[in-house]
Amino acid sequence: MRSNLSYVVVAALTLPGCMSDKMVDEFTEEEFDVIRQFGPLGEPPANPTNRYADDPACATLGQRLFFEKTYSHALTIADPALGAVGDTGKIACASCHDVTNYYTDTRSHPNSTSLGVTWTTRNAPTLVNVAYYKWMSWGGKEDSLWYQGANGCESAVNFGGNRLEYAHMLYRKYRNDYNAIFPLALDPALDPNAADAARFPAQGKPKANAMAPDGPWEMMDPKDRDIINTIMANAGKAIEAYERKLISRNAPVDRYVQGEYGALTPAAKRGLRLFIGKAACVDCHSGTIFSDQKFHNTGVPQLGINLPRTDNGRFDDLARTLTNAFNGASKFSDDQAMGTAKLMGLQVTDNLKGLFRTGALRHIANTSPYMHTGGLMTLEDVVRFYNWGGGTADFAGVKSPAMVPLLLTDEEQADLVAFLRSLTGEPPPAELGKDTSIPGP
Ligand code: HEC
Ligand code: HEC
Repeated sequence: MRSNLSYVVVAALTLPGCMSDKMVDEFTEEEFDVIRQFGPLGEPPANPTNRYADDPACATLGQRLFFEKTYSHALTIADPALGAVGDTGKIACASCHDVTNYYTDTRSHPNSTSLGVTWTTRNAPTLVNVAYYKWMSWGGKEDSLWYQGANGCESAVNFGGNRLEYAHMLYRKYRNDYNAIFPLALDPALDPNAADAARFPAQGKPKANAMAPDGPWEMMDPKDRDIINTIMANAGKAIEAYERKLISRNAPVDRYVQGEYGALTPAAKRGLRLFIGKAACVDCHSGTIFSDQKFHNTGVPQLGINLPRTDNGRFDDLARTLTNAFNGASKFSDDQAMGTAKLMGLQVTDNLKGLFRTGALRHIANTSPYMHTGGLMTLEDVVRFYNWGGGTADFAGVKSPAMVPLLLTDEEQADLVAFLRSLTGEPPPAELGKDTSIPGP
């Protein structure tokens, strides 16, 4: 009884005029019900399209591949961290997803995106908590994490590589790991000295379009192409198993939701009130990762030296998902029914132009620069952007009607930033950041 009484007294003191006798810290019971959606962070959703998603041996292999560099092709731009133009074998996943900084690119400053064999067209997102997303990348190009890993080496901007070379690399360096996990061992013809080595040319990938002349890939026996594609899918599944362990929990906001009312500073609490109220951030940034997992047009401008003038976002990315050999509906999926259901009914229509995935906000203070363009350097810049009602020009499509000027005072904007800073939890375990790739060519 006594504690209940002091509760009401404290509530009445902090919120003069509020007659509700049911307060949770500074919030009404109703407000706190909204706040409860933010924490604590549970386990990532299962991914049945990858039967190895939670296999520890697979994650160990995935970690090795995450740091592997030898399959990356010639740099087209010199960079002090990477090397000289023409250097090969300089780029790993970890080059752009830097383990020391929540797996973002510390080299990328506003408007310069990330540098692989050339500039990327978008900002490299954090991989911490990436397993909670339904659609990966800014435009939702990947319907699963293993899709990203299976296609990774062929990204023209990241690695400029190709799947045949990658499969040979796996055979050369990671044969033992691979064969211990996957039912079908790597084909011995991947050994360049094998009698039938010609079945698998050293380099090759599917031709760019139907009109292009056939290359080494098209000349291969369809069964051998399947063998290589299965290897790529499995490599992707191993990388996913690793990425699923990159989790950050126990942020101040989690402790607050669980009743540790001192976990948030007074400024962060005022910011939280704005987040779920006047600033309406929660309309899109909802749930335990602070993303509704949907796509919106906030009008982020395509400005900056390395950015394409136009980025159609979801419009271009969905088209790629639906036609990719490694989507969840493909024969490499371990649950085609589920993968098919996820893609069912999705169509590339004009209203998808300029839509991007709502960014998750955990550990956001550690992952600058912001937005798909990397165009905003600080959280203060982001809040100012929203306070203006989003961008006004230089973006594709039509801005969401939800993007209206918020009329927040300078103090309110600072409070919102204080709340965003309270979303950082413990970094993922340090051993996941160790370069375990096998040295050598
Ligand atoms: C040259 C820099 C670069 C390299 C190298 C790179 N990435 Fe990325 N990564 C990016 C960028 C940029 C994006 C955003 C792509 C987009 O939105 O289209 C991204 C997106 C992702 C995503 C989706 C993240 C999300 O928020 O949904 C994952 C997962 C990922 N990368 C994993 C990897 C893995 C695994 C590798 C190695 C096989 C890799 N990346 C190599 C720059 C890079
Ligand atoms: C209409 C939906 C919507 C609303 C409302 C909204 N956001 Fe966003 N938010 C997004 C989308 C979509 C993106 C990604 C935009 C892009 O990169 O083009 C994003 C990106 C962000 C990012 C950058 C994420 C990253 O990793 O770079 C931050 C920070 C952010 N929002 C904070 C806020 C805050 C604070 C509010 C309230 C003032 C808010 N948002 C309101 C949809 C929304």
